[in-house]
Amino acid sequence: MASNRNDPLRKFVYRGDPLAEPPPPELAVIFSQHRGEPDALITALEEIQRHYGYLGQSHLQYLSRELGFPLARIYGVVTFYNLFRLDPPGKHQIRVCRGTACHVNQSAQILAYLEQKLGVSVGETTPDGAVTLQTVACVGACSLAPVLVVDDETYGRMSADEAWQTLVALAAEEVNA
Ligand code: FES
Repeated sequence: MASNRNDPLRKFVYRGDPLAEPPPPELAVIFSQHRGEPDALITALEEIQRHYGYLGQSHLQYLSRELGFPLARIYGVVTFYNLFRLDPPGKHQIRVCRGTACHVNQSAQILAYLEQKLGVSVGETTPDGAVTLQTVACVGACSLAPVLVVDDETYGRMSADEAWQTLVALAAEEVNA
């Protein structure tokens, strides 16, 4: 029988369990390296996040099924350590340094200003998916404090407004590209 997209019962049709399928090859490689290692949970999570940029629900379900870690334990670890992300990152990673040298040079003001201008808090991504705002402990450029890191590029001796203008310029570059 041909499927009818307007059928009101359509949403109740069982479409199978995606986890009944084998994991995608990139996950399978990670799992194969840690099978039988009871202490490999954090390492496996780091490797999955390195590959995808975050830890998706299905990634964690596959991890649980394939390596035998209970899902509750996995989520316990993921939510305890703030290095793990459960949401896809934005297109650009904006990091405000909170190391000592940057802190004494008012990096907290830069962070507060960017939070206000972007409308997100640390760790969050703007609704359009353009930017994820983060902090970093120290990027080794203390003589340039306070420091802002945009993706892989470091900007030193920033004021709050200069930090914001750096992001504005980045957005303008993309529009004109
Ligand atoms: S404290 Fe910010 S770069 Fe070192």
